[in-house]
Parts: sequence; structure tokens; C-alpha cells
Amino acid sequence: MNKRKGIVLAGGSGSRLFPVTKSISKQLIPIYDKPMIFYPIAVLMLSEIKDILIITSPEHVHLYQKLLGDGSNWGINISYEEQEKPRGLAEAFLIGEKFIGNDSVALILGDNLFYGNAFKDLLIEAKNNNESASIFAYRVSDPERFGVVEFDKNYNALSIMEKPKKPKSNYAVTGLYYYDNEVIKIAKNIEPSDRGELEITDINKEYLSRKKLSVKVLGSGYAWLDTGTPDSLIEASHFIYTLEKRQGVKIMCPEEISFKNGWITKDKLLEIASLTKNNYNSYLKRIAE
Ligand code: TTP
Repeated sequence: MNKRKGIVLAGGSGSRLFPVTKSISKQLIPIYDKPMIFYPIAVLMLSEIKDILIITSPEHVHLYQKLLGDGSNWGINISYEEQEKPRGLAEAFLIGEKFIGNDSVALILGDNLFYGNAFKDLLIEAKNNNESASIFAYRVSDPERFGVVEFDKNYNALSIMEKPKKPKSNYAVTGLYYYDNEVIKIAKNIEPSDRGELEITDINKEYLSRKKLSVKVLGSGYAWLDTGTPDSLIEASHFIYTLEKRQGVKIMCPEEISFKNGWITKDKLLEIASLTKNNYNSYLKRIAE
């Protein structure tokens, strides 16, 4: 049986965050108490995916290696590839071809933040769905910035359009995608768009035309935030801060997810927690005990 691997796409130019991103990579900027990339990695871990490829720009790869190493602290396997230039999201499947091998794959964008009730169940369902590709749609007020899904009255997807001037709905495609191994072949056959990028929307359109695309709507019990602008960065930080403070839990904490998945032992978690005395590590200690 083939398994599912995970890719976090953490390259890009981060131009909307200049000058912040002139010298650092966007996905290393903190969202409240964790580097941004912890959130998408945690989503893959919630999905029980253990083999994860981080794709980033050549000048930043060493920073991610310093932060995450080989993943063994979290009981996962992390490897790295470089994307020379931001040539589009679909390039992930060309860069990641060797890593994916004969398996299926989940791709998540490094600046996407998800939160919600029973999210893990949804992720596991998508991970185990070998019949079709799975993507998620979320209602937004500014759909023209995204890939937009048009639905029929039973919420079957009818069409998907990339950044349409006149969106046919308010449902944006989020940055989390589950595909079978065919995605490599499909990615090899798409042409760059007018803006010169290999578009993930073209991959989704191909699955839709093959009647192999499941589009799940994330309802109002979910949050999907992207963190690409100064405003959205601070909003996301506030969101996480408020939830964590109020509930006394941490949101998308990779160490906690790993421990709960049974991928690291209590001793390992305590060892990580003992490295520095701070709030984050006190939390890990509490989880372990
Ligand atoms: P974007 O936010 O669309 O682009 P960006 O990060 O370059 O930022 P800006 O628009 O401000 O210049 O990218 C979404 C995510 O995907 C983000 O985490 C970066 C990543 N990405 C890549 O890794 N490679 C790419 O070729 C593209 C287009 C995006």
C-alpha cells in the first residue's frame, strides 16, 4: 500500500512584507509564540503524515535546517529542497518528485494557518481518501484574491477559477491540498500562466475534469488565515494569543501533537522542555505530566 507524504512550500518572495522579508524568510516570522512554519507542519502532523519535505529558497534553507533539523525531535522525518525562484505552487510536485516517489502527497502553503473543531478528523479523512483529490474551500469577503470554487446547490464543485475579476462565489480554495501520485504527471503537463507561474488551480481543474476532486467547505467553526501582509500577520498573532490565553492550551504545537500521536516518548518531551526555562517549555512539561 502506498502512503502519503507531506510538502510544506515555504519559498516565495514575501514582497508584501518588505522590508521585513528583505533579510529573513516569511515563514520564519513568529505568529505569537511560534515560527509561522510550525503551523503548517503541525497540520501535516495532525494528518498523521511523518515524512515531510520543506521547499524553500536557496538563501534560506540553512535557517530552516537550523530550526527543524531532521525532524527527529518531533518523531518525524524532515528533508529539504530548494526552489530557485517562486515559479508557482505547482512546481512543488516537480521539485518534490523524487521525495514523493510512488506515494500520494499533501501540500500545504507555509503561510497558511488553520484552526477548527474536529479538524483532525477532516484531515485524516482527506489523508485516507484514495479515490479523489481533496481540497478545502472557505468563505471570504475578497474572493478575487484566490482560486474560487463555484458550487451547485448540493455543494458539488462546478468550476474553479484563479483570481477571477468577477468571482462566481465567495468560496476561496485554501492552501492545503491532498493528491494521488498522478499529480506529478499533471504538474509536468501544465503551462505557466500569464503571470509566469505554474498554477495549482490548473492542477485542481484537471482533477475536476476527471471527476476526481472533492471540495470540502470549511464552515464557520473553522478559521483559515493567511499571513502574507502586515495586517494579516498581527491579526493571526492576536487570534492565536487570544485562544491560547483564554483556553490555557497551545494551538498547533508540534511537540504536543507528536507526543499525542505516540511519536515521541514522555522522556523525550521532558528533555525538550528542559532545554530553556520559558512559557513554551513549561507548557510542554505540563503536557508530558
Ligand atoms: P504568496 O503569498 O502568494 O507569495 P509570497 O509568499 O511570495 O508573498 P508576496 O505575494 O507578498 O510576494 O505565496 C503563498 C505561499 O506559497 C507562501 O508561503 C510562499 C509560498 N510560495 C512558494 O514557496 N513558491 C512559489 O513559487 C510561490 C508562488 C509561493
